Amino acid sequence: MKKSVLDYGLRVRLPITILVILISFAITFYVSRSERDGVGYKPDQPINFSHKLHAGEMGIDCQYCHVGVEKSRHAVVPQASTCMNCHTMAKTDSPEIKKLTKYYESGEAIPWKRVHQVPEYAYFNHSAHINADIECASCHGDVASMDKIEQVHAFNMANCLSCHRAPHEKMPYLADKVKKGPEDCSSCHR
Ligand code: HEC
Ligand code: HEC
Ligand code: HEC
Ligand code: HEC
Ligand code: HEC
Repeated sequence: MKKSVLDYGLRVRLPITILVILISFAITFYVSRSERDGVGYKPDQPINFSHKLHAGEMGIDCQYCHVGVEKSRHAVVPQASTCMNCHTMAKTDSPEIKKLTKYYESGEAIPWKRVHQVPEYAYFNHSAHINADIECASCHGDVASMDKIEQVHAFNMANCLSCHRAPHEKMPYLADKVKKGPEDCSSCHR
């Protein structure tokens, strides 16, 4: 009697246990995958800033805000003071600009959420790419048409290498101007 109850319990519980394990594997894979690729990542930002409006419709140059991207490893996200060049005057009655002004006056950095990131153990440097005349759009997509920034290409090793091996396929606009990128491990893993 006791034995058959145990048998019954096991017969029901075992498949459920296996199912739960399979589902948690699937979830882990899905979650870690989206962290790795970042494709489609499009977080809400503390201020509703639009690239489509500023870089697209108003035609402000990327490097007006992302200063020094041709000289350094990182493309700096601008401080509130850059925005205030215009927003001491423009749209001061808007609630979003009131938020901006508050950050500016308090001196507190705007807590923008980071969108693109390669892991610590991989080395990427903007300046080398910008100085080879590679457009922002080759890696970040058509930012000037995005209301909210979104990652459109995966920054995994396969993608870095596929451009390094055949840059002209990815960037026909550079014709034969650019040489290949490095493929040796130590260039990207220092
Ligand atoms: C070169 C001038 C200029 C700079 C620099 C600038 N903006 Fe603007 N921005 C404008 C103008 C002009 C508008 C209004 C456009 C319209 O409504 O036609 C605007 C609109 C906006 C709006 C929409 C406001 C609303 O409610 O309609 C937000 C939010 C905004 N800007 C945030 C920022 C932030 C954040 C920065 C800095 C990272 C920034 N802007 C830098 C000129 C600028
Ligand atoms: C008026 C200032 C301004 C201009 C012009 C501008 N940006 Fe930005 N950019 C910002 C701000 C502020 C952020 C952070 C908030 C956000 O992500 O929307 C940002 C974020 C980004 C990011 C995401 C950063 C991350 O966290 O990964 C990319 C990529 C980017 N910009 C590319 C561009 C490109 C390409 C252009 C030109 C087509 C451009 N930006 C023009 C202000 C600007
Ligand atoms: C060859 C590909 C490539 C090109 C070209 C490129 N980016 Fe990036 N961008 C990246 C990668 C990869 C990251 C993540 C960097 C990291 O984690 O260190 C990134 C990150 C960023 C960030 C977040 C801050 C940072 O630097 O880590 C901003 C802002 C940005 N890019 C703007 C730009 C702008 C503006 C241009 C053009 C002037 C540009 N990018 C051109 C690949 C590129
Ligand atoms: C759209 C094409 C493209 C993509 C995508 C790209 N690269 Fe490059 N990269 C190049 C080219 C072309 C060069 C050679 C530039 C030159 O000749 O000066 C280069 C050069 C480099 C260099 C050598 C210069 C230096 O800074 O030491 C490193 C490192 C590098 N890339 C890392 C990366 C990493 C990491 C990624 C992915 C996150 C990546 N690249 C994505 C085209 C690309
Ligand atoms: C052009 C730049 C570049 C070169 C060259 C490169 N890697 Fe990578 N590697 C990366 C990037 C970027 C990542 C982060 C991958 C991700 O997030 O998916 C990475 C990730 C890795 C990982 C972590 C596991 C994985 O696949 O995510 C290992 C291991 C690795 N690389 C080994 C190597 C070895 C060995 C070489 C030489 C044969 C090499 N890499 C050459 C850019 C590069």
